[in-house]
Amino acid sequence: MTTYKFPENFWWGSAASGPQTEGRAAGDGKGESLWDEWYKLAPEKFFNEVGPEKTSQVYTKYKEDIQLMKETGHTTFRTSIQWSRLIPNGTGEVNPKAVAFYNDYINEMIEAGIEPFMNLYHFDMPWTLQEQGGWLNRKTVDAYVEFAKTCFELFGDRVKKWFTHNEPIVPVEAGYLYQFHYPEEINLKHAIQVAYHEALSSALAVKVYHEMELDGQIGIILNLTPSYPRDESNPEDVKAAAIADAFFNRSFLDPAVKGEFPSELIEIVKELDMVPEMQEDDLVVIKENTIDILGINYYQPRRIKAKESAVDHTHGPMPDDYFDVYDMPGKKMNPYRGWEIYEKGIYDILTNVRENYGNIPCYISENGMGVEGEEKYINELGVIEDDYRIEFVKDHLRYVHRALEEGSNCLGYHMWTCMDNWSWTNAYKNRYGFIAVDLAEDGKRTIKKSGRWFRTVSDSNGFDD
Ligand code: BG6
Repeated sequence: MTTYKFPENFWWGSAASGPQTEGRAAGDGKGESLWDEWYKLAPEKFFNEVGPEKTSQVYTKYKEDIQLMKETGHTTFRTSIQWSRLIPNGTGEVNPKAVAFYNDYINEMIEAGIEPFMNLYHFDMPWTLQEQGGWLNRKTVDAYVEFAKTCFELFGDRVKKWFTHNEPIVPVEAGYLYQFHYPEEINLKHAIQVAYHEALSSALAVKVYHEMELDGQIGIILNLTPSYPRDESNPEDVKAAAIADAFFNRSFLDPAVKGEFPSELIEIVKELDMVPEMQEDDLVVIKENTIDILGINYYQPRRIKAKESAVDHTHGPMPDDYFDVYDMPGKKMNPYRGWEIYEKGIYDILTNVRENYGNIPCYISENGMGVEGEEKYINELGVIEDDYRIEFVKDHLRYVHRALEEGSNCLGYHMWTCMDNWSWTNAYKNRYGFIAVDLAEDGKRTIKKSGRWFRTVSDSNGFDD
């Protein structure tokens, strides 16, 4: 038997986001976000036509939920402040009901001994700003910085871990390259401008936060998908993987941690004549305002081979002009989400951060497994026996442990997610939580087997195997 013991005060918890959990309540004063409006425009794009107003009702059930977090061993928990709830029009007036809600939510967590981590942007642009171009428009950067400052002023006395963005590459890929979020464009020039504005907004929020001297830390949460070449000994595959890595990982990782964009990417962007619009001093702001802490979301690797298929010119240049996705035979899959499961990836990321990013303090901010039809695993006591989730977490934790033994500065592990929640256009198709949410029974919560197991891991700061 092996015992996996984690460092003292290792953070055990989970992650969620405002738009995926809070839901709407009459008279809550929340403004419309991109998701609210997109759902109105195209409900058929959402699994079973379940929209964002029907998320897990955390807005009204948070007290009960925090008790369940405690019961499942949470010492920490990350969610996000919905911009459109706090500042309904994106700029201007603050919604007093949102202030009361977030204050109470935060206070309750602290009272329960759970440290709140707060993220500021989780794909949820206020609609008034989206109508003016969202992240394409420089004005959004200014509005975001005001929003961030307001959050620090209102909650920064109690929240000591802040994150500027969750997976900022997703609005770029999903909204401007591969059409799985609004506005569903395919336009690399726009994608680059959006990415640039997000990276800049993050550095500006870091600057404001540090200037306020609030005695906490600020970082960014990135979904780092390690790019593995089909064949390590084939220079063309290796080069293609390096380009994919620059596009999808280093585009945000390098400016956030090192204060500069990767030279490979700058070269490509110049070659394509797609250098984003910038203002004087922007690059100085990015250089001088790097993060204190890095959140790492890890679900799947990216397998890459040298470009073999013909370049598709239909929509102008695309990142995919430089590489092909490699469909590796025999890979282990989560069939419900269609994502490869490759546990060692988590170790490779932590090693990369240790070796190439100054071993910056970091933590696993998301990792998890979405499964469809979990009802079939319900036992006679009404509990979902999700042994596959326990195995998934264990398999990843073993690699986190190995990275720690080799000197990684990883401070914690957060599962995605605490309670089953609304997965964007997948709505409630795949369930990720330690706690089941029964939509047919007014969102009734039931702790799954994995939630009970996680409590034992947190209590003993590790597990035996
Ligand atoms: C991460 C996001 O990409 O993965 C979450 O931060 C998301 O918002 C989670 O829900 C799981 O992905 P999906 O697409 O299955 O919801």
